[in-house]
Amino acid sequence: MTETILVTGGAGYIGSHTTLALLEAGYDVVVLDNLCNSSNESLHRVAQLANKAALFVEGDIRDAALLDSLFAKHPISAVLHFAGLKAVGESVREPLRYYENNVAGTVTLCQAMARAGVYRLVFSSSATVYGEPTQMPIREDFPTGVPTNPYGRSKLMVEQLFADLAQSEPSWRIAALRYFNPVGAHHSGQIGEDPNGIPNNLLPYISQVAIGKLAQLAVFGNDYPTVDGTGVRDYIHVVDLADGHLKALQAMTSRSGLHIWNLGTGVGYSVLQMLKAFEQANGLTIPYRLVARRPGDIAECWADPAKAEEELGWRATRGLTDMMADTWRWQSANPQGYAVAAALNEPLSA
Ligand code: NAD
Ligand code: WQD
Repeated sequence: MTETILVTGGAGYIGSHTTLALLEAGYDVVVLDNLCNSSNESLHRVAQLANKAALFVEGDIRDAALLDSLFAKHPISAVLHFAGLKAVGESVREPLRYYENNVAGTVTLCQAMARAGVYRLVFSSSATVYGEPTQMPIREDFPTGVPTNPYGRSKLMVEQLFADLAQSEPSWRIAALRYFNPVGAHHSGQIGEDPNGIPNNLLPYISQVAIGKLAQLAVFGNDYPTVDGTGVRDYIHVVDLADGHLKALQAMTSRSGLHIWNLGTGVGYSVLQMLKAFEQANGLTIPYRLVARRPGDIAECWADPAKAEEELGWRATRGLTDMMADTWRWQSANPQGYAVAAALNEPLSA
């Protein structure tokens, strides 16, 4: 029988790629998204690529009555929970909005799930919960650290909430996936990352310099104890990440309690290595300047992905060249992101 999955935040960057993977794998999908950081044009594109549409509901995870009606109307067997706010700097300025969306929103969602008797949940956590580990690569059994901002703390709080929930009620089957640095876009160039305003993250910034929207990249710090002094991260292709969600969703049919998996490649690259890789993959030159460190940044961070490989049978297969070429295919075909196409489209309705 076809399973129906509720995807919160499914119009967003990672949620749209995962919705596509779910539809391609034969699932029915209900997307709940308030579009506060996305456009449902992403879901029009997903429907074209999959030749099958998700049902889109514009609404908020904090709306308990709406959640109850969705669980009553659709035979939902599990929830992939992407909805949340993710801008680190904004979380420092507006902590209440972050705790309300990310923590209180998750509480409201879990309450509605429990009322509906749906206990299988896959959650978007983050490597930020490790704080500043002293040892690399990072394993899931390393102690969680002290995230440097309200966004990071909201992710850690949700993980702690899940641990308590799983302890209190054995029906819960929760996967918390700790993403490292998601980048790239679907190979078609039809869907990708479409940040509002000036991007905070490295790859969207580089690709907006490449398209001429921004003048040059500022490289934040070249005095870290790393290969070339710039920060090192574990960049993971968003399509690999989407596949990881399907594997976790399947794994949670036969597991109970809270399970935590790193989703990373196991390899770290510096900012300058990323810049060079983008230039080489796409035959472009990206102007940059070296500036001071960004407050709150850590020197390096990469995953030990062995647990996900052993327990989920998942590993990242797409390398740096794919990440760079796919990012640029998306950006060059959609210089304004979804904005122009969205203005021409009729709204999708529930
Ligand atoms: P995104 O902003 O593109 O997607 C999040 C989606 O959730 C958006 O479509 C937004 O409109 C929606 N949303 C936000 N609050 C909502 C609410 N209250 N009700 C309904 N919908 C709401 O971000 P993304 O990069 O796709 O991230 C998805 C998840 O993964 C987030 O929880 C994020 O914290 C987490 N994550 C992201 C990264 C990253 O670097 N992109 C890394 C680690 C974890
Ligand atoms: C990567 C590297 C920067 C921009 C953040 C969040 C984290 C997670 C992912 C969700 C660093 C450098 C960046 C620029 C630069 N999100 N950089 N110039 O900092 O690892 O993580 O996004 O959970 O919580 O903190 O990713 O892409 O911002 O930075 O030099 O304009 O690129 O200093 O070394 P980060 P990032």
